[in-house]
Amino acid sequence: MVYKIGFIGTGKMASAIIKGIVDKGFCAREEIIASNPRESSRKRAETEVGITVVSSNAEVVGSADVVILSVKPQQIPGVFSSENLGFGPSHTLVSIAAGVTIETLKNHVPDSKIIRVMPNICSTNFVGTACFSYSENCSENDVKTVKSIFESVGICIEVKEKDIDAVTGISGSSPAFMFMILDAMADAGVLLGLPRDLSLKFAAQTMMGSAITLMESGKHPGELKDMVCSPGGSTIEGVKVLEEYGVRSAFVSAIQACAEKNKELGRKG
Ligand SMILES: NC(=O)c1ccc[n+]([C@@H]2O[C@H](COP(=O)([O-])OP(=O)(O)OC[C@H]3O[C@@H](n4cnc5c(N)ncnc54)[C@H](OP(=O)(O)O)[C@@H]3O)[C@@H](O)[C@H]2O)c1
Repeated sequence: MVYKIGFIGTGKMASAIIKGIVDKGFCAREEIIASNPRESSRKRAETEVGITVVSSNAEVVGSADVVILSVKPQQIPGVFSSENLGFGPSHTLVSIAAGVTIETLKNHVPDSKIIRVMPNICSTNFVGTACFSYSENCSENDVKTVKSIFESVGICIEVKEKDIDAVTGISGSSPAFMFMILDAMADAGVLLGLPRDLSLKFAAQTMMGSAITLMESGKHPGELKDMVCSPGGSTIEGVKVLEEYGVRSAFVSAIQACAEKNKELGRKG
């Protein structure tokens, strides 16, 4: 095979993974091939990511044994119906599509090995979160190869396939929620008279610092929250307001809604 990894689709997630694995040194730009049927998208990907982008998905399959399917769930039938892509027993199809099960993917590539990965957009900066499940015909080596791709840009943990929709809500989608929180915190800073850039910097560093503190300490988040709340102090006033607005319940419902939607999208794959 000419290329180490192939990508079908050159959108946001493919770009995030490619940038991450190239910058990390997992593989060189020259070892990656991608496809996109649209010329304008090919040009954009070539310019932004600097890899070879071809118009034919079959060319990617013919050039790489590990192919990362990076299209939207509802675009998957279109990818496989337009031409015979040539997936065979030597190929590992890595699908990052939300909700689309290994069983459904088997209908498209009955002879190939399948690994379902749920990454997130933070892969670009080597702080990605990914989980995976695989079909029974994958070898230990296939799994190791794919795991190492995603571990090069963050963490990558095996889960039962039935749990992928939940992980998609918690780590696949939730960067959007974190960005919403950061934007709102920056607004609060501006409201209180701080310049926006400084306000955002304080907010982002605090989010990162809190996550690291949680992971390094191994403590329960409630215990860490209690450490910040002095009796009769200002933080507990803020906590009271967040509880009044049902922020925790809102997060639970939001992640539950994501998981439900993933199941629905998966039926379109
Ligand atoms: N975005 C995230 O944060 C995230 C996180 C976890 C998982 N995912 C999963 O990652 C997958 C991709 O999401 P995304 O956000 O990267 O979407 P996206 O930006 O829309 O990327 C999809 C890409 O597929 C291309 N495409 C469409 N039809 C195609 C075809 N027939 N053959 C080849 N390429 C085709 C699109 O081309 P054009 O550029 O011309 O439209 C686009 O480049 C989804 O299944 C999603 O569930 C995304």
